[in-house]
Order: sequence, then structure tokens, then C-alpha cells
Amino acid sequence: MGSIAILASGSGSNFEAICGELSRGRHEVRLLVCDRPGAFVLERAKRLGVPAFLASYKGRERPVVEREISQKLDEARVDLVVLAGYMRLLGPDFVGRYKGRLVNIHPSLLPAWPGTEAIARAWRAGDSTMGVTVHFVDEGMDTGPIIRQLAVQRRDSLADTETAIHQAEHLLYPLVILELLESTGEPERC
Ligand code: GRF
Repeated sequence: MGSIAILASGSGSNFEAICGELSRGRHEVRLLVCDRPGAFVLERAKRLGVPAFLASYKGRERPVVEREISQKLDEARVDLVVLAGYMRLLGPDFVGRYKGRLVNIHPSLLPAWPGTEAIARAWRAGDSTMGVTVHFVDEGMDTGPIIRQLAVQRRDSLADTETAIHQAEHLLYPLVILELLESTGEPERC
């Protein structure tokens, strides 16, 4: 059995898709870390019975907050740390500590369109093939080694394209997480 923690800042639709997939098997979502009070993902965690830790960055240095998060992850003894719409760049100490066990999803076919507003920028640029990428996290912004990608064809409207890309995320991310948890036996614990 493997266990994960999810870091998320917003709506948490990926969080919920991952919880749904893992609840059907022998793996466990052990912790949500959220940096935004009032984020909808906190409500989802409550409904799904996942313990949540609210990381408070206000007036505090990033390394201090990240050490606090690491402590929570260590206490939870998770195998994998999953970023799902965590809207902060993580510092080198944090990334170094979890390297190889820290993954992210990004709504573009990286290396195209890193950073925020990726779907809208790709759509406005006229890309006909768009998509999603799951990758390991390194110190850069959406630059780590790619694990898996899924292409999505452009739709007529931006809204429809966004919907299709989010559906692709909800399909791909839980499956990649399952694969990582089930590959090469038990991963080293965080
Ligand atoms: C997703 O599009 C993800 O790719 C990006 O942030 C968004 C999070 O959405 N990194 P949600 O909070 O999971 O609904």
C-alpha cells in the first residue's frame, strides 16, 4: 500500500479525481496541504475525510513555511508528494528533499506554455493540438522531467477547450500516480 499527500491552492478538481481513483484500491491520500484559507479544495477534503493542513505564508519567509510543510509530510509518512494546482514555486531545499517523489500536473504539452494561463495562451496563439503534462518537479517553473502527456484537440471556444483539458487531467493524473505507487515496489518514504 502506498500513500500520498496533495498540495493544492484552488478548486481541487484534480484532488478529488485522485482521491476517487485511489479510494478504489489499496492506496491512500493521507494529507491535503493548502495555502489559501477558503479554497474550495478544503471543502472537498472535509467531505472526503482527508485531513487538511493550512499552510500560512502571510508575513512569513518561504523556507520557514516549507519546513513546516515538510514536518507535516514526514509525520504523515507519505511515499509521494503531489502538486495539484499549488500556485506557489517551491524552494530548492524543499524540492531537493523530495526529488523523484514530487510530481506536478500542468495544462499544456510542456515544454510549450509553462507558467500561468497556459490554456488561454495556447488557445489564443491558435494551437490546434494542446494537452496536459505530468512531470517530476525540479527547481524551475514547469521544467522537470516529463513522465506522461496526453494530447487534446483544440475546441471552437476557449471554455470548451478548458473543459476538455481538465477532463484529460482528471483521467491522466490519477493513473500516473497509481503507476508511480505501484512501480518498483515500495518507494522510499519521505
Ligand atoms: C489545473 O489545471 C492544473 O493543471 C493546474 O492548476 C489547475 C488546478 O485545478 N496546475 P484544480 O484546483 O485541480 O481544479
